[in-house]
Amino acid sequence: MNAAPDSLDFAGAAALLNERDFATVRQLIADYAGIKLSTQKRNMVYNRLLRRLRARGIDSFGDYLQLVQREGSDEREPFVNALTTNLTAFFREPHHFDLLLARAQERARQHGRPMRCWSSACSTGEEAWSIAMVLREAQCPGEVLGTDIDTEVLNTAQAGVYRMERIAALPAERLRRHFLRGTGANDGLASVRPELRAMARFAQLNLQSPAWPAMERFDVIFCRNVVIYFDREFQKKLLARLADLLVPGGLLMVGHSESFPAAHPGFRSVGRTAYERATG
Ligand SMILES: C[S@@+](CC[C@H](N)C(=O)[O-])C[C@H]1O[C@@H](n2cnc3c(N)ncnc32)[C@H](O)[C@@H]1O
Repeated sequence: MNAAPDSLDFAGAAALLNERDFATVRQLIADYAGIKLSTQKRNMVYNRLLRRLRARGIDSFGDYLQLVQREGSDEREPFVNALTTNLTAFFREPHHFDLLLARAQERARQHGRPMRCWSSACSTGEEAWSIAMVLREAQCPGEVLGTDIDTEVLNTAQAGVYRMERIAALPAERLRRHFLRGTGANDGLASVRPELRAMARFAQLNLQSPAWPAMERFDVIFCRNVVIYFDREFQKKLLARLADLLVPGGLLMVGHSESFPAAHPGFRSVGRTAYERATG
C-alpha cells in the first residue's frame, strides 16, 4: 500500500488524485449538491477527501468513489459534508441586519403577524442566530428556519454553542442579552439563550433538490454565499423558487459577490445585495 501524505501542494495532489477520479468528484458533487468545483480545487479536494479515505480504511480514491456511488451508500453524506465550504460569522455583511432591524421594528409597531425568516444555507448557524437576535431586539415576534445540505454544520447550528472567540466581536450588550457564558467544564464557551432557541429550528435541505418540503411563505430569505458554487442555469431556477416562497414585499438577501436577482423582474434592489419581492 502506498501511504498518502497528510496534505499536499497542487502538484502532489495531482499525482495521487488522478484526472479521472478528480473529474468524477466534480461530477458527483455537482449532481448531489449543485456545487461547481473549479479545476483549481484539486489539492483542496485531495486534502478533504483524504480524511474520509482514512476514516473508511480505504487507500485509493477510485475505491472510495465507488463506495460513494453505491446505491444507498452511507458515505454520500460525509462526502458532501467534506466538500462544502462553511465559512460564516455572526452579523456577517451587517447591512442586511440593519435592513432586517428596520423591517422588524416596523412590523412590531404595527403589531403585525410574526415575521418568518429563512437562513437557507445556514452553515454552523451564526446567520440564523443573528436573525433571531435582531427580531428579539426589535421586539418583533418571529421564527427562523435554518437549513443547509451539510448535516455536520447543522448539528453545530442546532446546538447553539460557540467558542467565545466566535462571538468576541459582538457588542457587550448583545452578548449579555443573547448568550449564556459557560462555566467549569464549559469555560470558554457560550450558549444562545433559551429565548432565541424558542424562535429557531434547523433542518437539512438541499437547495439543489427538485422536491423541497412544503413551506409557508417567508418575509425574509437569506441566501448568501452559496449560489456562487452553482451554475447560472441552476441559479435562475433557484431564484424563481425563492421568489415563489417570498410574500409580496418580502426581502431576499444575497452574498457580497452575488447579484443574481438583479435581472429578475420579480425583484427590485433595496440596497446593497438586498432585493424586495415585487407586490402584485
Ligand atoms: C460559505 S457558507 C455560507 C454561510 C452563510 N450563509 C453566510 O453567508 O455566512 C455556504 C453554505 O452553503 C451550504 N451549501 C452548499 N451547497 C448547498 C446546497 N446544495 N443546498 C444547501 N446548502 C448548501 C454549505 O454546506 C455551506 O454551509
